[in-house]
Amino acid sequence: MILNKYSRIYTQDDSLPASQAMLIGSGLSDADLRKPFVGICSTGFEGNTCNMHLNGLADEVKRGVAAQGLVGLRFNTIGVSDGITNGNAGMRFSLVSREIIADSIEAMAGAHYYDALATVVGCDKNMPGALIAMARLNRPSLMVYGGTIRGGEFKGQQLNIVSCFEAYGKKVNGQISDEDYRGIIHNACPGPGACGGMYTANTMAAAIETLGMSVPASSSLPADSAAKTQECLDTGAYLRRLLELDLKPRDILTREAFENALVVVTVLGGSTNAVLHLIAIAHAAGVHLTMEDFQAVSNRVPVLADLKPSGKYLMEDLSKIGGVPAVQRTLLDHGLLNGDLMTVTGRTLAENLADVQPLGAEQDLLRPLSNPIKADGHIQMLYGNLATKGSVAKISGKEGLRFEGPAIVFNSEEELNQGITEHKIKAGQVVVIRYVGPKGGPGMPEMLKPTSAIMGAGLGDKVALITDGRFSGGTHGFVIGHVCPEAYDGGGLALVQDGDWIVLDATKNTINVQLSDEDLAQRRAAWQRPPLPVRQGVLLKYIRTVSDASHGCITDLFEEDQTGAPYPPAPSVQERGNLTTSNA
Ligand code: FES
Repeated sequence: MILNKYSRIYTQDDSLPASQAMLIGSGLSDADLRKPFVGICSTGFEGNTCNMHLNGLADEVKRGVAAQGLVGLRFNTIGVSDGITNGNAGMRFSLVSREIIADSIEAMAGAHYYDALATVVGCDKNMPGALIAMARLNRPSLMVYGGTIRGGEFKGQQLNIVSCFEAYGKKVNGQISDEDYRGIIHNACPGPGACGGMYTANTMAAAIETLGMSVPASSSLPADSAAKTQECLDTGAYLRRLLELDLKPRDILTREAFENALVVVTVLGGSTNAVLHLIAIAHAAGVHLTMEDFQAVSNRVPVLADLKPSGKYLMEDLSKIGGVPAVQRTLLDHGLLNGDLMTVTGRTLAENLADVQPLGAEQDLLRPLSNPIKADGHIQMLYGNLATKGSVAKISGKEGLRFEGPAIVFNSEEELNQGITEHKIKAGQVVVIRYVGPKGGPGMPEMLKPTSAIMGAGLGDKVALITDGRFSGGTHGFVIGHVCPEAYDGGGLALVQDGDWIVLDATKNTINVQLSDEDLAQRRAAWQRPPLPVRQGVLLKYIRTVSDASHGCITDLFEEDQTGAPYPPAPSVQERGNLTTSNA
């Protein structure tokens, strides 16, 4: 069986001596040139807890790959820290980074004909970026998640990254001293790993493990655990098996696998960012996944996990009671997951879970189905004259299911932050943050700083927030994001004025401003699109290529796909390239 069917294109072709010379110059032997090449991509970089250890984990992956008679070739791509960029203009680059990660991995592995791919990734956009690339390339691949951070502690208070943002709200309101504020900052992040609640990174890690693209239990292992290092060493054996089986991402990333992932995201109370990312990954895999698919799962699946941001526990705590496999096993036993689907282990989900114990009364992190935290899903799609193409609400149930009140409008996150500092936000208001969509932002920034500050100011359950931007996985409260069309494209949000009465109803799935069609038409006629927020560089390229949030903010959407009609799977690199194995 030929396992090096891509790399042999140039390693075994006599007419390509320069290719071989450069590989030999890089330290490979003639024997190595006959082995399968595994691209090992790390998003490791210094200066972010989620990414600081990834190059070390990639080294372990390389060791495990070599032990299986494969050639591991490491390379790096970028990452953007959501924790560091939240609340400042750097956040404009966050969602953009998902596309850069996907494009750069596709370019590297496509150009160098790697036979297989391992991605070692750690922060929010790293994981969907890696999955998009794997789905496009469609070569045996698996993702290694860098792991979750441990919880922090200060003066007996459990801390995580969101504690810092909320502490700011308390500081602004004089509820904590400067010294305690600094104490929280110094103790919130005690080591490597991605933000510890069921925020976006852990949500995507759990979703991807459920999709079958990472090995069992990998999404809940702490970054600094011995088990995480062992997982990296074992990656070589899994990749060898994937190569032997010729099991590729699109064999795993089926529509049913996405449905499984949506169930787990819902049960865990995961981040709304999963809507964008799973739609984008599905697109890359040729699966037509829509916001309605999320709604359909939300209609039938409850929230069971008492995890942060709105709950009590961290991912590290879930790891201690069996991790994501224990949750999956519990759901499988109740018929909520399809166990027949293939995974990167070369076995089905049900086979992976055969020896896993379901969760019962011995723990209180995962409630039983008979006593859910919320009887239906927390991710709800809302439509109305403010969001004719939809919006995404995160409704934990703790804030109620309906909110109405007068609008207070801000044209940027900075304006809102200023407004919070000046105590302009009052109980009962619907806070509108607009011109922060995929194009208007640009980059659809997350609103964690203002939402956390509002929480810290004690207004979390007294106001609602709506935006064409995103909410961090760490956000909680009555929040509705991804409003589509975005204000920059002249969506309903652009027409709202201070004092307009807004009604948000998560039972009827509606989001409306109480204005007649005539009033809205009049305002629309007078509306002027703001000037382009940037004039050059990657953000301008992004504005020109990004699809709307209902299409996952992807940057390679064919015109005809905008109709929403099911589209055939796009050809993979293998199919669309002039790949030949004539010299095999
Ligand atoms: Fe990386 Fe939160 S900043 S996961």
